[in-house]
Amino acid sequence: MKAIGTAKRQKEPPGSMKFFIDTADIAEIRDLAETGLVDGITTNPSLIAKSGRDFFEVLKEICDVVPGPVSAEVTATDFAGMLREGNTLAKLADNIAVKVPLTVDGLKTCKALSDDGIKVNVTLCFSAAQAILAAKAGAAFISPFVGRLDDTGADGLQLIAEIVEIYNAYPDFHTEVLVASVRHVGHVIESAKMGADVATLPPAVLRAMYKHPLTDKGLADFLADWAKTGQTILSDGKEARRSA
Ligand code: E4P
Repeated sequence: MKAIGTAKRQKEPPGSMKFFIDTADIAEIRDLAETGLVDGITTNPSLIAKSGRDFFEVLKEICDVVPGPVSAEVTATDFAGMLREGNTLAKLADNIAVKVPLTVDGLKTCKALSDDGIKVNVTLCFSAAQAILAAKAGAAFISPFVGRLDDTGADGLQLIAEIVEIYNAYPDFHTEVLVASVRHVGHVIESAKMGADVATLPPAVLRAMYKHPLTDKGLADFLADWAKTGQTILSDGKEARRSA
């Protein structure tokens, strides 16, 4: 008999934490894709509105730039409407993940699309109970919104911990935990410690992850000392002779 509270991890941990970028700004996406660290993109109706672009046009462009999953959200609220929109969005590109809200009709749509082999990202998740339903509906991704929970005085990261624990307890739950509504680097670090599969980052958060004042100071010091030596690494083709 399994002792309560000592359930062993039954699934392999994810190979790596994936980074999606939470934007529909194609210039930002192109720029960040060059880092080689971008595994996918999430959009929502607000981000599409912010881009000022045509929905279908911008999605196709994003799907061309980033080969990983690109979430495109339905805007109908009834099952039939979401299903039709989801099927339309899924035809845009092979890497589209259809995003549906965590409602009864949204999860019915999730089940129907997932059964047809379409990746579904269930969004607007604010409780562990909702995350269980999404996993049972076959979601490829569950998107718990940490920042918006924090805004209410609740603990967004606690929700990530609960969902990771629950999903790890069931080998047949294949839904990836996609940490959404990320507001700062601390959200990424704490989610990574918990083994969350994906974090979707506003561009500024990914850029902030590179930064440390001691890196800047250390580099400035190294370069100042190097300048004093009067040497260069690449000059007059000497590097070719040295490596010969
Ligand atoms: C991602 O899929 C969500 O749409 C997004 O992370 C929401 O973030 P926000 O709370 O900053 O709007």
